[in-house]
Amino acid sequence: MNQADVSDILKSHGQDHIVDHYRRLTPDRQKELYDHIAGLDLDLVFKLHRDRARAGDVSSLSVKIGPARIVPLPRTPEDMERHAAAQSAGKSLISDRGVAVLIVAGGQGVRLGHDKPKGTFPISPIKNKTLFQLFAEQTKALQARFLSRIPLVIMTSEENHDDTVAFFNSYNYFGIDKGDVLFFSQGMLPTITPQGELLLRDDTHLLTNPDGHGGSLKALATSGILQHLIDLGIAELFYCQVDNPLVKIADPVFLGYHALAKAECSTKVVRRENINEKVGVYVSLNGKDAILEYSDFGGRHMRTLDKEGNVLYWAGNTAIHILNLAFVKRLNDHGFALPYHCATKTIDKPGPGGTPRPVDVWKFETFVFDAIPLAERTCCMEVDRREEFAPVKNKTGPDSPATACRAMARLHRQWLEEAGIRVPPELKVEISPLFALDKKDLAERLREKKLSVQEDTYLG
Ligand code: UD1
Repeated sequence: MNQADVSDILKSHGQDHIVDHYRRLTPDRQKELYDHIAGLDLDLVFKLHRDRARAGDVSSLSVKIGPARIVPLPRTPEDMERHAAAQSAGKSLISDRGVAVLIVAGGQGVRLGHDKPKGTFPISPIKNKTLFQLFAEQTKALQARFLSRIPLVIMTSEENHDDTVAFFNSYNYFGIDKGDVLFFSQGMLPTITPQGELLLRDDTHLLTNPDGHGGSLKALATSGILQHLIDLGIAELFYCQVDNPLVKIADPVFLGYHALAKAECSTKVVRRENINEKVGVYVSLNGKDAILEYSDFGGRHMRTLDKEGNVLYWAGNTAIHILNLAFVKRLNDHGFALPYHCATKTIDKPGPGGTPRPVDVWKFETFVFDAIPLAERTCCMEVDRREEFAPVKNKTGPDSPATACRAMARLHRQWLEEAGIRVPPELKVEISPLFALDKKDLAERLREKKLSVQEDTYLG
């Protein structure tokens, strides 16, 4: 595309205000604006705008919803046996075919008062390790345990890419081989008003927004990393969000259930804490597994009870998945397959000169869990919230650094107590992933040792 083509596309979509602005710029700045616009998918955003404007505001869910089939927490001896079989299948999968880990970390920690990449937020109870460090150390420990190459892939965004790479570099990639830590930046889409007007962020840029965490599956392909992983012989991708310090990276049990079900996309769920908890809900939708975001699910379903009086749709989305890489490739084969969602936000209209004024805008993004109904086979397993889910979303209150830090300390205390070591209630403990990855690991490490916890204790 040359500069005239960009002008033609803009004009044909009624964006004369951008073309007029472009004409007023110096040639250097014109080129800057042109290069920026040429890197954006304008056709896509105009098509999404058209479709959305036609559909209007009515979200009519004329669909059949029911509870999905979910592997329950192990309670009976048969469950335990099935779990053990899954674990052994998962271990073979890691050693034989290889697994890569993807962490979606496109956001900043602004809501936490931390205007840096969210993964650089310190969270662990004693050492204040960052979210990134906890994930990287788990990956390193798994590499050592399985003598297997486990690439750690981080999705960043335009906003935080350089800071994220610099952060890993400054910590020497937390001891992982530098070649095994891969970064790619998620895509951006122009933000558009309901009237179909693109906005300028400044003289040489349009206002844009990240294309959602579903964009990870697109950018994985366009960045070449997907093919690179496939060429390495890796078959499965363990996926999680940067905001949950309790994630069990590449959990062999989860990988095993996924492999035994020959699933293309698997999910971990927890029991919703209460009927108002803001999590996506794992359901069966027109006979296919799917996740509906709480905002789309509807209050009636959120509150429905079963015959025993328990919440019927109990399965809350942890945003922990496994995706088969051939499936991810297929999602990209004929254009990107995930549907776009539209969020209406009010922003202060930016732009060169003038006082900002509030305007409504539409932001289009994709959700990774929309891959679930597109998979041929899926698997979903329940996990214990206390062991695996403590997201950091808000500065204070529920889902905050304080609750996540407490959850980590409580879990590590429980591991120690199950290994026969008493931890006085007023003391804090933290166990490095490099010391033990789980309670069984810890019990083995401590078998010959006489550990007595008399003060805040870090095992590393
Ligand atoms: C998300 C899920 C919800 C799930 C909950 C579990 C959605 C729409 N909902 O809610 O079903 O129960 O997590 O904690 O996802 N991200 C990017 N790039 C983006 C957008 C998001 O990297 O463009 C990453 C962020 O770094 C963040 C994570 O995805 O860590 C979650 O996104 P967010 O929009 O905050 O979703 P939640 O409301 O937390």
